[in-house]
Amino acid sequence: MCGIVGYVGNKSALDILLEGLTNLEYRGYDSAGIAVNVDGHVELYKAEGKLQNLKDITFEKKEHISKSTIGIGHIRWATHGAPTTINAHPHSCNCGRVAVVHNGIIENYKELRAKLEKEGCVFRSQTDTETVAHLVAKKFAQTHDLTEAVRLATKEIEGAYALCVIHQDIKNTIVATRRNAPLLVGIGEGEYYVASDVPAIIKYTKKAMYLEDNQIVTLTPDSMKLIDIDNNVISQKIEILPWEPVALSKMGYKHFMLKEIHEQPDVVRNVLAGKLRAIDENISLNEVTLDKESLKTLNRIQIVACGTSLHAAMVGKYIMEELCGIAVDVEPSSEYIYRKTVGDKNTLVIGVSQSGETADTITAVRQAKSRGSHILIVTNRPDSTMAREADSLIPVSAGIEVSVAATKSYTAQVISFYLLAIYIAEIKNSANKENLSNLKRELILLPQKIEKVLSHKEDVQACARRFANSKDFIFIARGINYATALEGALKLKEISYINATGYTAGELKHGPIAMLDESMPVLSILMKGQVYEKILSNSEEAKARNARMIALTDSDDTKINDLFECIIKVPEIIETLSPVLAIVPLQLLAYYIAEFLGKDVDQPRNLAKSVTVE
Ligand code: AGP
Ligand code: GLU
Repeated sequence: MCGIVGYVGNKSALDILLEGLTNLEYRGYDSAGIAVNVDGHVELYKAEGKLQNLKDITFEKKEHISKSTIGIGHIRWATHGAPTTINAHPHSCNCGRVAVVHNGIIENYKELRAKLEKEGCVFRSQTDTETVAHLVAKKFAQTHDLTEAVRLATKEIEGAYALCVIHQDIKNTIVATRRNAPLLVGIGEGEYYVASDVPAIIKYTKKAMYLEDNQIVTLTPDSMKLIDIDNNVISQKIEILPWEPVALSKMGYKHFMLKEIHEQPDVVRNVLAGKLRAIDENISLNEVTLDKESLKTLNRIQIVACGTSLHAAMVGKYIMEELCGIAVDVEPSSEYIYRKTVGDKNTLVIGVSQSGETADTITAVRQAKSRGSHILIVTNRPDSTMAREADSLIPVSAGIEVSVAATKSYTAQVISFYLLAIYIAEIKNSANKENLSNLKRELILLPQKIEKVLSHKEDVQACARRFANSKDFIFIARGINYATALEGALKLKEISYINATGYTAGELKHGPIAMLDESMPVLSILMKGQVYEKILSNSEEAKARNARMIALTDSDDTKINDLFECIIKVPEIIETLSPVLAIVPLQLLAYYIAEFLGKDVDQPRNLAKSVTVE
């Protein structure tokens, strides 16, 4: 996925574009580029790598570029073509009059490219996007109307796109359109903005219009025209964004990830606020609009999600099956959408997503919706595309998460699942009341326990240093913490590039144990509860194969001291809630290893914060 911005008005476009891209850098950082119109000529500026490289290039010509009061910009996460300068957007046609930025994938780009090449177009890049530039230029040559050229081009394009286009011959005009990729227009006084996401424009305006699929908007400094792909004029739904401009700051932490890890106690407090008021009061979850009778008779829940959100969903499955007695299936959205899934109006389908823009999960919930299922969305972005598909919407209130590696949003999602499970269990009367009270009591105490873990972060840091040069890492757990093992391994992989895998401890002996030797660290998630002794035995088995053993535990059991080379201690907690506490040291472990290895913690290679392509 990529981020796109556009500006047309009376101010200089350069700073607005660069600032917009800065706030979209979470969407990609393979390359960046802008197109402006200086003295009647479209000019492109592009740079490989981080946005700073583009800032450096444009700084040298600032006076010249600043003359332009129109521009489009792009931050790339490459899907087609290597992350090079030549493949950086904006892309242009052979005459150089058209400039296009694109978020998405043009699925029929090979056919289009072959056809355009036959017609004489010379391609410079390996991207799918360049076909759009040539196509628009061809259509413009026929129509001399940029909106019409874009409209005709989109009729030939298959796939997903948000596009912003300018043309040298059409002064002060941006044409933008979308299909299955986000795009909104910001409305100012004598100026318009276009962006993939709100942070790019919120500093300038709160008045906005979200584009819907197949709509085409034409913007000049003093006009906005909206049509659909069949050229019908559409009424404009203008709204006031419920956002305040926020200055994204690391608050003295070296990286956003470390700051976000430290925000988790307050995130838990926020998620619980107003919903869990007292131990003897029922959970209040007005966000769930499914009526109580339907909740009582519900016999199936499907949860779809990707990556870290998928791991939060796995914890959710465990708790909901335990407390609500409902069968819960969890599936990666990317699998769910390409097989025959069974579901109907008696199935509750939950989509979990930090960004609310993950293409696979959006497709999954749309499929489920078309079968009549009630759609519940758990997201950190209540203004996202996915949120707009929801019948019930649980915003997780973690605050903006900047680091690509998700931390606080995971915790907020998991806590939301506890609330949802208790809420359903109270309606269904499906769980022991004392257990529910105990769980609520522990939930209230949780923020302090996380604070305690954070106050001992030096212990995790010491462990990180000791194991930072490992080539591989294994995380083992059982039961509710299997998800913790997967999430701990994912965090380590994402930011340190160490090959890490999470296994259920019982599976170790069925194959993975063959990999163990004196160079392999095995981290056992050894939280007290019904599987404690079992994991201990599995850890003994690993130790017997000379693996380097690390424990993450809430146990004071001294007999484990000889088994483990390193013991990371967390406060005692009930097993049901242990994933929330156990994940924090694993986030810190991944962080300190990556930091020790000098990796780019907040923007790890090849990744982006939200994946808006399938
Ligand atoms: C998390 O650290 C990852 N960056 C990634 O796995 C992420 O969780 C996944 O892409 C899903 O994103 P979403 O929650 O925004 O849908
Ligand atoms: N497919 C385009 C490219 O690779 C856009 C990528 C995206 O939106 O992720 O340049």
